[in-house]
Amino acid sequence: MSTVAPPQTLPQANDPCWCGSGRKYKRCHRPLEGRVMQGEISPYRPVPAHIARPSYADTGRVERWDEPRVKSPEIIGRMRHSGKVAAEILRLAGAMVAPGVTTDVIDVYVHDLTIERNAYPSPLNYHGSRKSVCTSVNEVICHGIPDSRALRDGDIINIDVTAYLGGVHGDTNATFFVGDVDPESRKLVQVTEECMWKGIEAVRPDRPVSDIGKAIEDHAKKFRYGVVKAFVGHGIGEQFHTDIQILHYADTRGSTTIMRPGMTFTIEPMINLGTWQHRMWDDDWTAVTADGKRTAQFEHMILVTDDGFDVLTGGEGAVSPYAPWKR
Ligand code: MF3
Ligand code: CO
Ligand code: CO
Repeated sequence: MSTVAPPQTLPQANDPCWCGSGRKYKRCHRPLEGRVMQGEISPYRPVPAHIARPSYADTGRVERWDEPRVKSPEIIGRMRHSGKVAAEILRLAGAMVAPGVTTDVIDVYVHDLTIERNAYPSPLNYHGSRKSVCTSVNEVICHGIPDSRALRDGDIINIDVTAYLGGVHGDTNATFFVGDVDPESRKLVQVTEECMWKGIEAVRPDRPVSDIGKAIEDHAKKFRYGVVKAFVGHGIGEQFHTDIQILHYADTRGSTTIMRPGMTFTIEPMINLGTWQHRMWDDDWTAVTADGKRTAQFEHMILVTDDGFDVLTGGEGAVSPYAPWKR
């Protein structure tokens, strides 16, 4: 991080940069202007001992074991509950989004709401993650770490909530507007929500999971948006992420996994105004668009049923309760 603050009036493109590097402004700090800057990350918040925790909570190491892809009715019942709890927390967290609110304050709120519901915030210590929710602003694709950065009028923010309750995870996210957002960004967020629902509506037993990515990419292409490839939907249940992968773009690799009644996975497309390519911040967590343009995401946890799908994080209380074009 730079210790020199940017000046009130910025230099011309070919003038020396304000930071004192001696390079031209256009070759130095100009590409970073308007980008999200990392703030201070607050200390780890513990979870009370009476709350049942996943095995990684104490170690930060994620053990993987074989988990049946098709869940028993009993597990599905528990996932319905953890899904509902996650959806409620997401809605409440979204309601506090406003200019001036820091992502750290959102993290504390999600942490407390989760604990109040006797659930463990799944992101906390998952692969060593130090926060209870992911907050991804503007060009941040996913896995944004809550910090002291205050939301600004015109930002967009994705909040990704996962709650562990009854021995299973419930995972859902949505993108929210901060105050007055420009039309181009609003359109991106709307189409991204549509992309998620197009993917969900492609869920049918005995069809390959590649139908989902194809439906999503077909819709995104109409608007010339980029579809992120590096992050995918995932099987979920007693483990946060299981072996099923749900690509959000058309790819034959998804054609050998066939959807069966009782399977549970997430659909969580990340759609970009510009290129589909990503970069990592040097914190090795935060993924941003390679061109710095904005990106949006929506996520639901889905059950394959005998004749289609069920949205385990959906229903009346959800941020995205049903396909937007059917409202
Ligand atoms: N909730 C994210 C997902 O949809 C995963 C977050 S992992 C974390 O898969 F460690 F960053 F929390
Ligand atoms: Co998620
Ligand atoms: Co997920």
